[in-house]
This record gives sequence, C-alpha cells and structure tokens, in this order.
Amino acid sequence: MSRKRFPRGAPGAGPDAEPQLARIDTLNDDGRGVARVDGKVSFIDGALPGELVRYRVLKGKRNFDQGELVEILEASPHRVAPACEHFGVCGGCSLQHLEATAQIAEKERILRDKLRQFGGVEPEHWLPALTGPVWGYRRSARLGVRNVPKKGGIIIGFRERRSSYLTPLYACHTLDARAARLLPALVGLITGLSCRDRIPQLEVACGDDEVALVFRHLEAFTATDLARLSDFGREHGVRVYLQPRGPESVTALEPSDPSPLSYHLPEFEVAIHFRPTDFIQVNAGINRRMVAQAVALLDPRPGETVVDLFCGLGNFTLPLARRAARVTGVEAERRLVLGARDNAARNGIVNAEFRQADLYDEAQARDFWAGASFDKLLIDPPRSGAMEVLKLLPGDGPRRLVYVSCNPATLARDAEYLVNSHGYRLTRAGVMDMFPHTNHVESIAVFEC
Ligand SMILES: C[S@@+](CC[C@H](N)C(=O)[O-])C[C@H]1O[C@@H](n2cnc3c(N)ncnc32)[C@H](O)[C@@H]1O
Repeated sequence: MSRKRFPRGAPGAGPDAEPQLARIDTLNDDGRGVARVDGKVSFIDGALPGELVRYRVLKGKRNFDQGELVEILEASPHRVAPACEHFGVCGGCSLQHLEATAQIAEKERILRDKLRQFGGVEPEHWLPALTGPVWGYRRSARLGVRNVPKKGGIIIGFRERRSSYLTPLYACHTLDARAARLLPALVGLITGLSCRDRIPQLEVACGDDEVALVFRHLEAFTATDLARLSDFGREHGVRVYLQPRGPESVTALEPSDPSPLSYHLPEFEVAIHFRPTDFIQVNAGINRRMVAQAVALLDPRPGETVVDLFCGLGNFTLPLARRAARVTGVEAERRLVLGARDNAARNGIVNAEFRQADLYDEAQARDFWAGASFDKLLIDPPRSGAMEVLKLLPGDGPRRLVYVSCNPATLARDAEYLVNSHGYRLTRAGVMDMFPHTNHVESIAVFEC
C-alpha cells in the first residue's frame, strides 16, 4: 500500500474493531488482498489489487493482521459479481470476484514472483497462458458429507474457507454440470439412507461419457439402502460405487460390472481408462492442451528415449510414446502403475514401460537413475516438488527437461537447483488455467542444456 496516513481506528481486533482504510497492493497465494498499513501487512478477504477499502482486523498477529472487508470505496475495474451464491463462504473457490483474464494475469505474476524470489531465475521466453472454459471444468472432486440436524440435515459440499465446517452446496458452477445437477437429489438420497450419519464423503469422477459417484461409508448399507442407491444410479444415468475402507475397497454397485471410466487425448489417439478414485488431471480441456504443449515442448524425436517421472496412469507417457522411440514412466502407486500398463496395452502402445518406485526415497531414486539412459525428461510431481529425485539426476542428464508443476514455490526452488547446480537454462515458462476461480497455479517450465 502507498504509505498514506489513514486513521487507524480503535486498536485491537475482532468483530467490533473499528474499520480502517487500506489500498490493496497485490493478492497473496490464497487469493486475499494484501495491504501494508502503518508498516504492517494485512491480508483482507475479498479485496482486489488497486482497491481502496475499509476493513476490520479480525485477528492481529505480531507480523501481520487478518482482516475482513467492510466496504469497497474504489473498486478494481476487474471486479465482477461472483457467479455462485456460496462464494465467500465455500472454500472451493477464492477468485470468482476477479474477471477470468485478470485471474490468469495474477497467476502469471505469482509464477514470475516465485521464480524470482525462490529461484533467482527468469525464463528466456514467457509462454502464452493456456486457457479454456472457466465453468463446469472440474471432472473430479471430493465432497464432504455431514448430517447436521441444526442446519436442516444432510450437507454435501466443500469445506468452508479456513474452517472444517462444510458449505451446504445446492449448486456448484465449477463442477462438471453432469455431476453438479445431481447435488439437490443427492441430499435427498443420503437423507433417506439408514446410515446417513456414517457417510463422510462422496467422490465424483467424470469420464468423457460417464459420471461416477463413490459413497465412502463407515457402516454397512442395509438392503433397502442398496436398493435406493441402485435406483438413484439408474434414474440419473450415473454409476454408483461403494467404498467401505481405503481406495482399494471401492466396488461397483450400479451397474455391477461397469465398463471403465475413460477420457481421450484425440491428438495422440490415446484413451486413458481410470478407476473413480484414481488421480486424473481435474480439467479435461486444459489437460488435452497441456499434454499437447508438453509433448511439443519436449519435442521427442523418433530415435529418442524419454523418461516421465510421477507418471500416474500414463497421461503424458502414452502421448510421448507416439512420438519417441521409447518412454519409461515412473510412479509410486502400484494401482496406477498397473493401470498405466493396461492403458498402454489397450492403446496398442508397445514402446512404453512403467516402473513402480518411490521417487522421494533416496535408495529407490538412485536405483532408478543408475539403470536409466535417456535423452529427454518430463516430470509432473505433487505439490512438494521434485528436489529429492532431481538431486540425484546424473551429471550427464537429459538435454531437455519439461517440468509440469502445481506449486510455483517448489517449481522455483527446483529451478534454482537445475540452473545453478546443473547448468540448465530456463528457456520457457508459463501458466495453465487448470483451476479457474481458485488460487491454484498450474505451470510448465522448460530447461535446456
Ligand atoms: C500431479 S500427479 C501427476 C500424474 C500424471 N503425470 C498425470 O498427468 O495424470 C503426481 C503423481 O505423482 C505420484 N507420486 C506421488 N508421490 C510419489 C513418489 N514419492 N514417487 C513417485 N510417484 C509419486 C502420484 O501418485 C501421482 O500419480
């Protein structure tokens, strides 16, 4: 904030604290407006960069305050009305009040800042952002379920922001519309089940042509419950699965022997089959574009060999195998490794192999690199990044490395290592709008020797 002197109001914090004025500088990583008031940083929910606002300090800490927005005195030109009635309470989205193009510009800024701050690096060229439809994009979701009689009974929804309570969702604009339209009926269904208090979670997984619902239950369903669940599946044309324990316990109820869920990557003539609790990229449209971009950036040639670390079900491995001589995918979860092998076979791909290894385990990562000989590398790690496995990268590592990241902070840390300890150049980087309206930043970076 410009260090203008505004009246500080009553000292203290809480719902009765006197509102104060602030000019918002920027957005922080969780989508809150950041201002500096009398030298102290305030994070203000719902405020946007450039805005002049009145806010109330709800919690005062030694180094920063957490505030709630009271009034917008000068609104950002990029402010829009949120589409969802639950916005502000539901923790699923944090940026619906910012127009979509400005959201992606913010995400580009976050990536640039993180690369500078944590990595001390800047790409030689910025890639244009990959964008797609900003509503109805979420093809997989884990929704909480609670029976809260004081609030009218069964609640299905995402957690509220910074709280463990659930937001009762009757609509969700980010969820795949085929699943979102079922929310009110699902409340009715679960209300009528005998063990409605013992259903903590409902998982949604959408293939290109089918929708699956997985009911996690802590108590056995009665025969009447099972009949109701089956009827629901038939009536709404969705698959119903039951999950009494961990993901391996998932079984199909309706139909009892369903064909697998699947999505397609037509550019590569690849179909990926998956089980309803398997990891898949959340946004089908952006995933297609992301895979195409990653393959184009890695640019495997017909004689080259490629390694794909953190490969899941082969989302990048199988398209890469259509271009390269040979691809090896590495993944920790056995179920995904087996699924990836099946996917290769089903697509008639014989030049891809899959290995199971925990890449955060030094001995296993060392073992993998010792036997690996390859020209190019793609990595797509979880949020914690890939330092453990990159540290062991052989000195004569790949000429080109494409890094797909869901956390710009760990990407920046790993970029610093690749550039300063391995001599790579960060040639390109950019963001992808995988999670519109949320604060998640998906990005891609290219390193070359
Ligand atoms: C961001 S997902 C990417 C999956 C895949 N590339 C895709 O596009 O669908 C990260 C993957 O890393 C796997 N993973 C997590 N920890 C791992 C580890 N320690 N070693 C190897 N794989 C791991 C997860 O099971 C998951 O499949």
